[in-house]
Amino acid sequence: ETLAKATKGKFLMGVAINMQQVNGVNPVESDLIANEFSAVVAENCMKPQPTHPQENKYVWDDADKFVAFGEKNKQTVTGHCLIWHSQIGRWMFVNDSGKDVSPEVLKERMRQHIYAVVGRYKGRVKGWDVVNEAFEDNGTYRKSKFYQILGKDFIKYAFQFAHEADPNAELYYNDYNVETPAKCDAIVQLVKELKAAGCRIDAVGSQSHMHMVNPTLEATETSFKKLKAAGVHILITEWDVSILPSPYDGANISASFKYSKEMDPYRDGVPADVQQKWNKRVLDMFGLFLKYSDVVDRVTVWGLNDAGTWLNGFPIRGRMDYPVLFDRKNQRKSVVDEMIKMA
Ligand code: G3I
Repeated sequence: ETLAKATKGKFLMGVAINMQQVNGVNPVESDLIANEFSAVVAENCMKPQPTHPQENKYVWDDADKFVAFGEKNKQTVTGHCLIWHSQIGRWMFVNDSGKDVSPEVLKERMRQHIYAVVGRYKGRVKGWDVVNEAFEDNGTYRKSKFYQILGKDFIKYAFQFAHEADPNAELYYNDYNVETPAKCDAIVQLVKELKAAGCRIDAVGSQSHMHMVNPTLEATETSFKKLKAAGVHILITEWDVSILPSPYDGANISASFKYSKEMDPYRDGVPADVQQKWNKRVLDMFGLFLKYSDVVDRVTVWGLNDAGTWLNGFPIRGRMDYPVLFDRKNQRKSVVDEMIKMA
């Protein structure tokens, strides 16, 4: 039994993949991805900077290979991400004299970027993370260059352009810590404003990186109820569950700390009680996703295994961490069998 088969009819199980996996550098990993998952998203290659490093220069080969990989495996392909304050060429915001561009110029550059990327994969990408991480945890707008130059309307423009470029594509707003009430309320307000402006928005992506603000089940469920009431579906877009203490869990390790074996509380393996606690957290959350499978369309883990997880570099470089499903030898974790039983 695989996760993809077990969850069929509830939601699609997805995974964020890197170019080594797309290119089959490790066939075991590529086969695991092809067999265990029914959806894929590119961890990096479709972001603004990799695809559009300079104003009139586009780089498509990785993104082309990624989309072809998903199609070959008959998987749903999600596009991540069109407008984001990070991993984006600085050229987007500056004119020849290095000053901020005018609102009109930035809006036109956004349109060109979105038309080019969405247009290229028209009809092949199920939906797009149109705007990523536009809010602070307290519900105020992140003061990104987009916001500074265009105000909050940059979000509306992005959704309009994406819809014009592929009218059949689903459109998503994506963010982390969506379980934080103030942030969830701001996102609900954004959904209402986009709908009032006649924009298409199909779902909100809740990244679900469960280590920063470690959300309780109640807070997570409350956020699901609010989003459902706002008339959007929910995508779990970047699920991983950190097992190591982190500065965000109040651990006394500062984020600048150079992680070392000596510092690794689990250098001799994860104690049974910690592993049990972690398994329970994964299964509790998975149970909530299943409970809301009427509005949760996809559950995507951010990375296949703990060898490739970004958590090995965040917030502390070199930490050994465990996203969710497979270990670094690509062995299925026990928790996966439990998840399959639950589904
Ligand atoms: O590809 C370049 C390579 O050419 C260069 O030599 C190398 C050294 O500078 O950098 C490579 O790019 C790196 C990229 O990952 C691909 O490996 C970037 O430096 C690095 O910052 C980037 O990190 C990614 C990060 O987003 C920033 O884009 C992580 O892998 C990725 O897991 C992380 O994912 C984000 C989601 O997109 C949005 N939500 C939060 C999540 C975690 O930060």
